[in-house]
Amino acid sequence: MTTELSHKKNQVKIAESFGSASKSYDVSARLQRYSGKHLMPWLPNRNDLCVLDLGSGTGFFTDLLASSYNQVIGLDFSKQMLKFAKQSRHKDIMWLEADAHQIPLKDESIDFIYSNLVIQWCEPLDVAIKEMLRVLKPGGLIIFTTLVDGTLRELKSSWRQVDDDQHVIDFKSEQQLDKYFNTESSSVLEHKCQDIVLEYQNVIHLARELKGLGANHLPNKKNRGLSGKDKWFAMTEHYQDFLEPNGIYPATYRLYSGLVVKLNN
Ligand SMILES: C[S@@+](CC[C@H](N)C(=O)[O-])C[C@H]1O[C@@H](n2cnc3c(N)ncnc32)[C@H](O)[C@@H]1O
Repeated sequence: MTTELSHKKNQVKIAESFGSASKSYDVSARLQRYSGKHLMPWLPNRNDLCVLDLGSGTGFFTDLLASSYNQVIGLDFSKQMLKFAKQSRHKDIMWLEADAHQIPLKDESIDFIYSNLVIQWCEPLDVAIKEMLRVLKPGGLIIFTTLVDGTLRELKSSWRQVDDDQHVIDFKSEQQLDKYFNTESSSVLEHKCQDIVLEYQNVIHLARELKGLGANHLPNKKNRGLSGKDKWFAMTEHYQDFLEPNGIYPATYRLYSGLVVKLNN
């Protein structure tokens, strides 16, 4: 299979996985809400701007952006996410079904891009970044969060003791992200990295939340069937090593937040 074809197939699978989660998404989105709000201090305080919410999902933040800015575009490649967003958000938002690797907008037409927890799904990331920079005006901003290496370390480590298959997506490192955004065309003005530890009643609760978020498509998984009850049980046994004294199961998410400017060249 050609690389382009396998890229397309992969994108369709990710979009379907998010699409099937569109209705349950907002109740499972504890992390998304936190990370999206945490970007607010970086938002420009002029309202005559044109904003692109890249990977807008159910449109929760697109709606918030539309209360502050003149022109807001919500872009997502999942039909179902967009359908849900259109039905539940009532502001004057332009919705676009498109892939972040091929943004159907004119060069230099956007003042800033807001993107909350999306680019960890973008592969190849440099293509998506090139597209973002193409549609941004010179001096325009990318205000984003993503997850980096160290995310779901408890789950990864528990599965590693059971088999060598992929059970969690591969996250880039903080240093890799800095490299992607510090180029001759763009520069990281500020970035933060923090561990957010969410609490779960059990491992099933964690798995359900990941599924509810649509974050369960694994491009490099070898065994595509169910993992098997025995393997699942063995993994949950290893997860006990992380159990806290109050009986809570922790899961760490390493959140990278970035403020990037498109350079004038
Ligand atoms: C974790 S959700 C975040 C949604 C929203 N930004 C929020 O904060 O609630 C990720 C979203 O990105 C979309 N997405 C992932 N990869 C994408 C791509 N290459 N192009 C467009 N949308 C993409 C998914 O369909 C999903 O709706």
